[in-house]
Amino acid sequence: MKALVLAGGRGTRLRPITHTSAKQLVPVANKPVLFYGLEAIRDAGIREVGIVVSDPREMLQPDLRTGQRTTVMVNSQAEIRAAVGDGSAFGLQVAYIEQEAPLGLAHAVKISEGYMAGEPFVMYLGDNLIKDGITPFVREFEQERPNAQILLAHVKTPWEFGVAELEGDRVVRLEEKPKQPRSDLALVGVYLFDRTIFEAVHAIAPSRRGELEITDAIQFLITNGRRVRSHVISGWWKDTGKVEDMLEGNRMMLGGIELDIRGEVDTDSAIEGRVVIGPGTKVERSRLRGPLVIGANARIVDSYVGPFTALGDGVELSHCEIEHSIVLERARIHDVPRRIESSLIGKDVVVCASDARPRTHRLMLGDSSRVELS
Ligand code: DAU
Repeated sequence: MKALVLAGGRGTRLRPITHTSAKQLVPVANKPVLFYGLEAIRDAGIREVGIVVSDPREMLQPDLRTGQRTTVMVNSQAEIRAAVGDGSAFGLQVAYIEQEAPLGLAHAVKISEGYMAGEPFVMYLGDNLIKDGITPFVREFEQERPNAQILLAHVKTPWEFGVAELEGDRVVRLEEKPKQPRSDLALVGVYLFDRTIFEAVHAIAPSRRGELEITDAIQFLITNGRRVRSHVISGWWKDTGKVEDMLEGNRMMLGGIELDIRGEVDTDSAIEGRVVIGPGTKVERSRLRGPLVIGANARIVDSYVGPFTALGDGVELSHCEIEHSIVLERARIHDVPRRIESSLIGKDVVVCASDARPRTHRLMLGDSSRVELS
Protein backbone atom coordinates (compact mmCIF):
# COMPACT_ATOMS: atom_id res chain seq x y z
CA MET A 1 0.00 0.00 0.00
CA LYS A 2 1.25 3.48 -0.91
CA ALA A 3 0.05 6.99 -0.04
CA LEU A 4 -0.69 10.06 -2.14
CA VAL A 5 -0.56 13.36 -0.29
CA LEU A 6 -2.00 16.42 -2.01
CA ALA A 7 -0.03 19.55 -1.28
CA GLY A 8 -0.62 21.63 -4.39
CA GLY A 9 -3.53 24.04 -4.72
CA ARG A 10 -3.81 27.77 -4.11
CA GLY A 11 -4.80 28.33 -0.48
CA THR A 12 -6.93 31.35 -1.38
CA ARG A 13 -8.93 31.29 1.87
CA LEU A 14 -5.83 31.70 4.00
CA ARG A 15 -4.50 34.78 2.26
CA PRO A 16 -2.36 36.75 2.95
CA ILE A 17 -0.50 34.00 4.85
CA THR A 18 -0.55 31.84 1.71
CA HIS A 19 0.69 34.64 -0.55
CA THR A 20 4.15 33.65 0.59
CA SER A 21 3.73 30.19 2.08
CA ALA A 22 2.16 26.86 1.18
CA LYS A 23 -1.09 26.46 3.14
CA GLN A 24 -0.12 22.92 4.13
CA LEU A 25 2.90 24.34 5.96
CA VAL A 26 0.98 26.77 8.18
CA PRO A 27 1.61 25.41 11.68
CA VAL A 28 -0.91 24.14 14.18
CA ALA A 29 0.55 23.86 17.70
CA ASN A 30 3.86 24.86 16.05
CA LYS A 31 3.87 21.91 13.63
CA PRO A 32 2.94 22.25 9.94
CA VAL A 33 -0.49 20.76 9.18
CA LEU A 34 1.12 18.55 6.51
CA PHE A 35 3.40 16.87 9.07
CA TYR A 36 0.41 15.52 11.04
CA GLY A 37 -0.78 13.79 7.86
CA LEU A 38 2.66 12.33 7.09
CA GLU A 39 2.92 11.00 10.65
CA ALA A 40 -0.56 9.46 10.43
CA ILE A 41 0.45 7.70 7.19
CA ARG A 42 3.67 6.41 8.77
CA ASP A 43 1.78 5.23 11.86
CA ALA A 44 -0.54 3.24 9.58
CA GLY A 45 2.53 1.28 8.41
CA ILE A 46 2.80 2.90 4.96
CA ARG A 47 6.31 3.81 3.80
CA GLU A 48 6.08 5.02 0.19
CA VAL A 49 4.47 8.42 -0.22
CA GLY A 50 3.99 10.50 -3.35
CA ILE A 51 3.45 14.19 -2.59
CA VAL A 52 1.66 16.21 -5.27
CA VAL A 53 3.11 19.72 -5.50
CA SER A 54 2.33 22.62 -7.82
CA ASP A 55 4.62 24.63 -10.01
CA PRO A 56 5.99 27.96 -8.81
CA ARG A 57 3.66 30.89 -9.45
CA GLU A 58 4.11 34.64 -9.79
CA MET A 59 2.70 36.95 -7.12
CA LEU A 60 2.67 40.70 -6.65
CA GLN A 61 4.13 41.54 -3.29
CA PRO A 62 4.77 44.90 -1.58
CA ASP A 63 8.41 45.75 -1.02
CA LEU A 64 8.78 46.38 2.74
CA ARG A 65 11.07 49.37 2.31
CA THR A 66 9.57 51.21 -0.65
CA GLY A 67 5.95 50.08 -0.33
CA GLN A 68 5.96 49.43 -4.08
CA ARG A 69 4.69 46.16 -5.44
CA THR A 70 7.11 43.88 -7.19
CA THR A 71 6.62 40.51 -8.83
CA VAL A 72 8.08 37.63 -6.85
CA MET A 73 8.07 33.94 -7.53
CA VAL A 74 6.25 32.10 -4.79
CA ASN A 75 7.50 28.58 -4.79
CA SER A 76 5.44 26.61 -2.37
CA GLN A 77 6.76 23.50 -4.08
CA ALA A 78 10.32 24.39 -3.06
CA GLU A 79 9.11 25.13 0.45
CA ILE A 80 7.42 21.75 0.74
CA ARG A 81 10.44 19.95 -0.67
CA ALA A 82 12.68 21.80 1.80
CA ALA A 83 10.44 20.97 4.77
CA VAL A 84 9.82 17.29 4.00
CA GLY A 85 12.94 16.37 2.00
CA ASP A 86 13.22 12.67 1.15
CA GLY A 87 10.88 11.84 4.03
CA SER A 88 13.53 10.00 6.07
CA ALA A 89 12.93 12.31 9.05
CA PHE A 90 9.41 10.86 9.16
CA GLY A 91 10.48 7.28 8.45
CA LEU A 92 9.05 7.57 4.91
CA GLN A 93 10.32 7.39 1.34
CA VAL A 94 8.91 10.46 -0.33
CA ALA A 95 8.69 11.12 -4.07
CA TYR A 96 7.38 14.39 -5.53
CA ILE A 97 4.79 14.45 -8.29
CA GLU A 98 4.51 17.77 -10.09
CA GLN A 99 1.09 19.07 -11.07
CA GLU A 100 1.24 21.91 -13.60
CA ALA A 101 -1.78 23.68 -12.07
CA PRO A 102 -4.44 22.85 -9.45
CA LEU A 103 -6.74 21.14 -11.93
CA GLY A 104 -8.57 19.09 -9.32
CA LEU A 105 -8.15 16.24 -6.88
CA ALA A 106 -8.95 13.65 -9.56
CA HIS A 107 -6.37 15.29 -11.84
CA ALA A 108 -3.80 14.81 -9.06
CA VAL A 109 -4.75 11.11 -8.99
CA LYS A 110 -4.48 10.90 -12.78
CA ILE A 111 -0.90 12.19 -12.86
CA SER A 112 0.06 9.76 -10.06
CA GLU A 113 -0.87 6.60 -11.96
CA GLY A 114 2.73 5.76 -12.84
CA TYR A 115 3.91 6.24 -9.26
CA MET A 116 1.18 3.99 -7.83
CA ALA A 117 2.05 1.21 -10.31
CA GLY A 118 -1.17 -0.70 -9.69
CA GLU A 119 -0.91 -0.72 -5.88
CA PRO A 120 -3.81 0.31 -3.67
CA PHE A 121 -3.26 3.64 -1.95
CA VAL A 122 -4.57 6.09 0.60
CA MET A 123 -5.08 9.63 -0.67
CA TYR A 124 -4.64 12.26 2.02
CA LEU A 125 -5.43 15.95 1.45
CA GLY A 126 -2.47 17.86 2.86
CA ASP A 127 -4.62 20.49 4.59
CA ASN A 128 -6.74 18.00 6.56
CA LEU A 129 -6.18 17.28 10.24
CA ILE A 130 -7.51 14.07 11.78
CA LYS A 131 -6.80 13.90 15.46
CA ASP A 132 -6.72 10.14 15.88
CA GLY A 133 -4.89 9.26 12.68
CA ILE A 134 -5.95 6.89 9.90
CA THR A 135 -4.73 3.45 11.01
CA PRO A 136 -8.17 1.85 11.65
CA PHE A 137 -9.44 3.01 8.24
CA VAL A 138 -6.41 1.58 6.43
CA ARG A 139 -6.80 -1.78 8.24
CA GLU A 140 -10.51 -1.88 7.42
CA PHE A 141 -9.77 -1.25 3.73
CA GLU A 142 -7.10 -3.97 3.69
CA GLN A 143 -9.49 -6.49 5.22
CA GLU A 144 -12.60 -5.65 3.21
CA ARG A 145 -10.86 -4.87 -0.10
CA PRO A 146 -13.54 -2.64 -1.64
CA ASN A 147 -12.64 -0.65 -4.77
CA ALA A 148 -12.85 2.56 -2.77
CA GLN A 149 -13.46 3.56 0.82
CA ILE A 150 -14.45 7.05 1.86
CA LEU A 151 -14.59 8.67 5.27
CA LEU A 152 -17.57 10.82 6.19
CA ALA A 153 -18.27 13.19 9.04
CA HIS A 154 -21.42 15.03 10.14
CA VAL A 155 -20.91 18.78 9.59
CA LYS A 156 -22.94 21.95 10.11
CA THR A 157 -22.07 23.46 6.69
CA PRO A 158 -22.29 20.59 4.20
CA TRP A 159 -22.41 22.96 1.20
CA GLU A 160 -18.68 23.67 1.78
CA PHE A 161 -17.72 20.01 1.17
CA GLY A 162 -18.29 16.98 -0.96
CA VAL A 163 -21.55 15.49 0.35
CA ALA A 164 -22.61 11.83 0.44
CA GLU A 165 -26.06 10.34 0.36
CA LEU A 166 -26.33 6.92 1.99
CA GLU A 167 -28.85 4.10 1.96
CA GLY A 168 -27.95 2.13 5.05
CA ASP A 169 -24.15 2.15 4.85
CA ARG A 170 -24.18 2.02 1.03
CA VAL A 171 -23.11 5.20 -0.74
CA VAL A 172 -25.70 6.01 -3.41
CA ARG A 173 -24.67 9.49 -4.49
CA LEU A 174 -21.87 12.02 -4.07
CA GLU A 175 -22.01 15.69 -4.91
CA GLU A 176 -19.27 18.32 -4.70
CA LYS A 177 -20.25 21.45 -2.73
CA PRO A 178 -23.99 21.18 -3.53
CA LYS A 179 -26.19 24.27 -3.09
CA GLN A 180 -28.88 22.08 -1.58
CA PRO A 181 -27.11 19.26 0.24
CA ARG A 182 -29.09 16.03 0.56
CA SER A 183 -27.36 15.15 3.85
CA ASP A 184 -25.00 16.61 6.44
CA LEU A 185 -22.36 13.96 5.70
CA ALA A 186 -19.20 15.58 4.36
CA LEU A 187 -16.38 13.75 2.65
CA VAL A 188 -13.30 13.85 4.86
CA GLY A 189 -10.05 14.40 2.97
CA VAL A 190 -8.85 10.79 3.30
CA TYR A 191 -9.76 8.25 0.64
CA LEU A 192 -8.65 4.68 -0.02
CA PHE A 193 -8.54 3.36 -3.56
CA ASP A 194 -7.52 0.36 -5.58
CA ARG A 195 -6.45 0.66 -9.23
CA THR A 196 -10.04 1.01 -10.54
CA ILE A 197 -9.94 4.70 -9.57
CA PHE A 198 -7.68 5.29 -12.59
CA GLU A 199 -10.46 4.14 -14.97
CA ALA A 200 -12.70 6.68 -13.27
CA VAL A 201 -10.34 9.67 -13.40
CA HIS A 202 -9.80 9.04 -17.13
CA ALA A 203 -13.54 8.81 -17.78
CA ILE A 204 -14.84 11.96 -16.06
CA ALA A 205 -14.99 15.51 -17.44
CA PRO A 206 -14.13 18.75 -15.61
CA SER A 207 -16.85 20.18 -13.35
CA ARG A 208 -18.49 23.60 -13.60
CA ARG A 209 -15.58 25.09 -11.64
CA GLY A 210 -13.21 23.56 -14.21
CA GLU A 211 -11.68 20.90 -11.95
CA LEU A 212 -11.56 17.12 -12.26
CA GLU A 213 -13.47 16.29 -9.07
CA ILE A 214 -12.67 13.23 -6.99
CA THR A 215 -16.34 13.09 -5.97
CA ASP A 216 -17.25 12.64 -9.67
CA ALA A 217 -14.63 9.91 -10.00
CA ILE A 218 -16.03 8.03 -6.99
CA GLN A 219 -19.56 8.57 -8.31
CA PHE A 220 -18.35 6.96 -11.56
CA LEU A 221 -17.24 3.90 -9.57
CA ILE A 222 -20.67 3.71 -7.86
CA THR A 223 -22.56 4.10 -11.14
CA ASN A 224 -20.47 1.36 -12.70
CA GLY A 225 -21.22 -1.12 -9.95
CA ARG A 226 -17.90 -0.95 -8.11
CA ARG A 227 -17.81 -1.45 -4.34
CA VAL A 228 -17.57 1.87 -2.51
CA ARG A 229 -17.62 1.59 1.26
CA SER A 230 -18.09 4.44 3.67
CA HIS A 231 -17.16 4.94 7.25
CA VAL A 232 -18.69 7.72 9.33
CA ILE A 233 -15.99 8.94 11.70
CA SER A 234 -16.78 10.08 15.21
CA GLY A 235 -13.36 11.55 16.11
CA TRP A 236 -12.26 15.12 15.57
CA TRP A 237 -11.48 16.21 11.98
CA LYS A 238 -10.88 19.56 10.32
CA ASP A 239 -10.21 20.88 6.83
CA THR A 240 -7.88 23.75 7.76
CA GLY A 241 -8.74 25.94 4.78
CA LYS A 242 -9.89 28.93 6.86
CA VAL A 243 -8.48 30.90 9.78
CA GLU A 244 -11.21 29.76 12.20
CA ASP A 245 -10.44 26.15 11.31
CA MET A 246 -6.71 26.67 11.87
CA LEU A 247 -7.46 28.14 15.30
CA GLU A 248 -9.74 25.25 16.17
CA GLY A 249 -7.10 22.78 15.00
CA ASN A 250 -4.57 24.61 17.15
CA ARG A 251 -6.88 24.32 20.15
CA MET A 252 -7.45 20.65 19.52
CA MET A 253 -3.76 19.76 19.12
CA LEU A 254 -2.65 21.88 22.08
CA GLY A 255 -5.19 20.00 24.20
CA GLY A 256 -2.84 16.99 24.11
CA ILE A 257 0.51 18.61 25.04
CA GLU A 258 2.53 17.95 28.21
CA LEU A 259 4.59 20.39 30.29
CA ASP A 260 8.08 20.75 28.79
CA ILE A 261 10.17 23.79 29.61
CA ARG A 262 13.55 24.09 27.94
CA GLY A 263 13.95 27.86 27.87
CA GLU A 264 14.56 30.21 30.80
CA VAL A 265 11.71 31.51 32.93
CA ASP A 266 12.62 34.20 35.51
CA THR A 267 11.32 34.16 39.08
CA ASP A 268 8.95 37.06 38.40
CA SER A 269 7.03 34.98 35.87
CA ALA A 270 4.18 32.57 36.58
CA ILE A 271 3.40 29.40 34.66
CA GLU A 272 0.04 27.68 34.95
CA GLY A 273 -1.06 24.48 33.26
CA ARG A 274 0.58 22.63 30.39
CA VAL A 275 3.14 24.87 28.77
CA VAL A 276 5.88 24.01 26.25
CA ILE A 277 8.81 26.40 25.93
CA GLY A 278 11.55 25.75 23.36
CA PRO A 279 15.31 26.08 23.89
CA GLY A 280 16.83 29.55 23.93
CA THR A 281 13.51 31.21 24.75
CA LYS A 282 13.44 33.74 27.59
CA VAL A 283 10.36 34.59 29.64
CA GLU A 284 10.55 37.65 31.89
CA ARG A 285 7.93 39.13 34.23
CA SER A 286 5.16 37.36 32.35
CA ARG A 287 2.24 35.07 33.02
CA LEU A 288 1.75 31.98 30.85
CA ARG A 289 -1.46 30.04 31.17
CA GLY A 290 -1.50 26.78 29.17
CA PRO A 291 -2.14 24.85 27.17
CA LEU A 292 0.24 26.78 24.99
CA VAL A 293 3.45 26.31 23.06
CA ILE A 294 6.33 28.70 22.45
CA GLY A 295 9.08 27.77 19.97
CA ALA A 296 12.84 28.30 20.26
CA ASN A 297 14.65 31.62 20.75
CA ALA A 298 11.51 33.62 21.48
CA ARG A 299 11.30 36.46 24.00
CA ILE A 300 8.28 37.15 26.20
CA VAL A 301 8.57 40.24 28.39
CA ASP A 302 5.93 41.83 30.67
CA SER A 303 3.20 39.94 28.85
CA TYR A 304 0.35 37.48 29.29
CA VAL A 305 0.08 34.45 27.03
CA GLY A 306 -3.21 32.64 27.47
CA PRO A 307 -4.63 29.23 26.63
CA PHE A 308 -4.56 27.76 23.11
CA THR A 309 -1.78 29.98 21.83
CA ALA A 310 1.13 28.85 19.66
CA LEU A 311 4.07 31.23 19.26
CA GLY A 312 6.68 30.27 16.65
CA ASP A 313 10.49 30.43 16.85
CA GLY A 314 11.98 33.86 17.41
CA VAL A 315 8.67 35.57 18.26
CA GLU A 316 9.01 38.64 20.48
CA LEU A 317 6.22 39.83 22.77
CA SER A 318 6.45 42.71 25.16
CA HIS A 319 3.77 44.53 27.13
CA CYS A 320 0.90 42.71 25.53
CA GLU A 321 -1.70 40.03 26.13
CA ILE A 322 -2.57 37.28 23.68
CA GLU A 323 -4.62 34.11 23.70
CA HIS A 324 -6.27 31.60 21.38
CA SER A 325 -3.96 32.62 18.55
CA ILE A 326 -1.24 31.41 16.20
CA VAL A 327 1.82 33.61 15.74
CA LEU A 328 4.38 32.58 13.13
CA GLU A 329 8.15 32.86 13.24
CA ARG A 330 9.86 36.10 14.18
CA ALA A 331 6.69 38.18 14.51
CA ARG A 332 7.11 41.07 16.98
CA ILE A 333 4.22 42.34 19.08
CA HIS A 334 4.84 45.27 21.39
CA ASP A 335 2.75 47.51 23.66
CA VAL A 336 -0.63 46.57 22.27
CA PRO A 337 -3.24 48.10 24.61
CA ARG A 338 -5.95 45.40 24.29
CA ARG A 339 -5.77 41.64 24.47
CA ILE A 340 -5.17 39.99 21.08
CA GLU A 341 -7.32 36.93 20.56
CA SER A 342 -8.45 34.53 17.83
CA SER A 343 -5.73 35.84 15.53
CA LEU A 344 -3.37 34.36 12.97
CA ILE A 345 -0.27 36.53 12.64
CA GLY A 346 2.24 35.81 9.85
CA LYS A 347 6.01 35.55 9.75
CA ASP A 348 8.04 38.71 10.49
CA VAL A 349 4.87 40.74 11.11
CA VAL A 350 5.22 43.74 13.44
CA VAL A 351 2.30 44.88 15.60
CA CYS A 352 3.10 47.78 17.90
CA ALA A 353 1.72 50.88 19.58
CA SER A 354 2.92 54.36 18.77
CA ASP A 355 2.87 57.55 20.88
CA ALA A 356 2.93 59.76 17.82
CA ARG A 357 0.28 62.54 17.59
CA PRO A 358 -2.28 62.75 16.17
CA ARG A 359 -3.37 59.32 17.42
CA THR A 360 -3.94 57.31 14.28
CA HIS A 361 -3.78 53.75 13.06
CA ARG A 362 -0.90 53.31 10.66
CA LEU A 363 -1.27 50.10 8.70
CA MET A 364 0.82 48.30 6.15
CA LEU A 365 -1.12 45.16 5.32
CA GLY A 366 -0.67 42.63 2.55
CA ASP A 367 -3.44 41.77 0.09
CA SER A 368 -6.44 40.02 1.65
CA SER A 369 -5.37 40.87 5.21
CA ARG A 370 -8.08 41.42 7.82
CA VAL A 371 -7.82 43.69 10.84
CA GLU A 372 -10.55 44.15 13.46
CA LEU A 373 -10.07 47.21 15.69
CA SER A 374 -12.18 48.21 18.65
O1 DAU B 1 -11.44 18.68 3.09
C1 DAU B 1 -12.41 17.84 2.55
C2 DAU B 1 -12.89 18.36 1.21
O2 DAU B 1 -11.72 18.47 0.36
C3 DAU B 1 -13.92 17.40 0.58
O3 DAU B 1 -15.12 17.40 1.35
C4 DAU B 1 -14.23 17.81 -0.85
O4 DAU B 1 -15.09 16.87 -1.44
C5 DAU B 1 -12.93 17.90 -1.66
O5 DAU B 1 -13.18 18.34 -2.98
C6 DAU B 1 -11.96 18.85 -0.99
O6 DAU B 1 -12.49 20.17 -1.08
P1 DAU B 1 -11.61 21.50 -0.90
O7 DAU B 1 -12.29 22.61 -1.60
O8 DAU B 1 -11.31 21.69 0.55
O9 DAU B 1 -10.26 21.14 -1.67
P2 DAU B 1 -8.99 22.05 -1.85
O10 DAU B 1 -9.06 22.77 -3.13
O11 DAU B 1 -8.77 22.85 -0.58
O12 DAU B 1 -7.82 20.97 -1.96
C7 DAU B 1 -7.53 20.02 -0.98
C8 DAU B 1 -6.03 19.74 -0.93
O13 DAU B 1 -5.54 19.25 -2.17
C9 DAU B 1 -5.17 20.95 -0.61
O14 DAU B 1 -4.10 20.54 0.23
C10 DAU B 1 -4.65 21.41 -1.95
C11 DAU B 1 -4.54 20.11 -2.71
N1 DAU B 1 -4.78 20.20 -4.16
C12 DAU B 1 -5.98 20.71 -4.61
C13 DAU B 1 -6.28 20.77 -5.94
C14 DAU B 1 -7.60 21.32 -6.44
C15 DAU B 1 -3.85 19.72 -5.07
O15 DAU B 1 -2.76 19.26 -4.66
N2 DAU B 1 -4.12 19.81 -6.41
C16 DAU B 1 -5.31 20.29 -6.90
O16 DAU B 1 -5.50 20.31 -8.12
